[in-house]
Amino acid sequence: MIELAPSILSADFSRLGEDVNQAEQEGIRWLHIDVMDGLFVPSISFGFPVIKSLRPKSRMFFDVHLMIREPIRYIHEFAKAGSDSITVHLEACSDVEETLREIRACGCKCGISINPGTPVSEILKYLPMVDMVLIMTVEPGFGGQKYIESTTEKIVQLRDWIREQGLDVLIEVDGGIHTGTIRTVLDAGATRIVCGSAVFSGDIRENVRALQAIIKDYEETNE
Ligand code: DX5
Ligand code: ZN
Repeated sequence: MIELAPSILSADFSRLGEDVNQAEQEGIRWLHIDVMDGLFVPSISFGFPVIKSLRPKSRMFFDVHLMIREPIRYIHEFAKAGSDSITVHLEACSDVEETLREIRACGCKCGISINPGTPVSEILKYLPMVDMVLIMTVEPGFGGQKYIESTTEKIVQLRDWIREQGLDVLIEVDGGIHTGTIRTVLDAGATRIVCGSAVFSGDIRENVRALQAIIKDYEETNE
């Protein structure tokens, strides 16, 4: 089962609830929530209050992507705010295992993410500890960037590794994904597809429908 996960980073924050609601009404089940600290990445986005305000308004699975240094300091707060899954960056943690254990201890699903320049081999040892790996397909920090072609190979490598090991780990991709690039990541093996500007710029309903149509077509031809 493939899930499209719209990233609220590209939503209109003055009407965030309505934007999110439109996506949910189109059948979206995953919501991608990008938190940035201005240190691990150059930009600052938002924190706990936004997640907390959205939580009672939505039944979607809150997929929280922490682009912050030493996220272990805040895991408990993000869990309390209403996260269903928390993903941290390998590059941002001095103790990756301890951070993943903390996410689990808080009752959330846990994910690990790598930047475009980090080889897949570096996360292999953590696979038994996670529910999901997030392969960044742009440099984290901003929405609306161009998909980095060289990351496709990393998705394929990861998919093959997960299959060989018989593991139950989801592959998520994030950055530069739109109707022109989504097929590439689906073919490579991603099943959680983050789209920011491709969903929230312009007509949200039409955007979701166009992306879901490609996913449906992919699923039908690969049954
Ligand atoms: C980038 C964020 C992404 C971003 C994707 O650092 O992690 O989730 O919102 O935006 P698009 O889909 O516009 O590239
Ligand atoms: Zn993200």
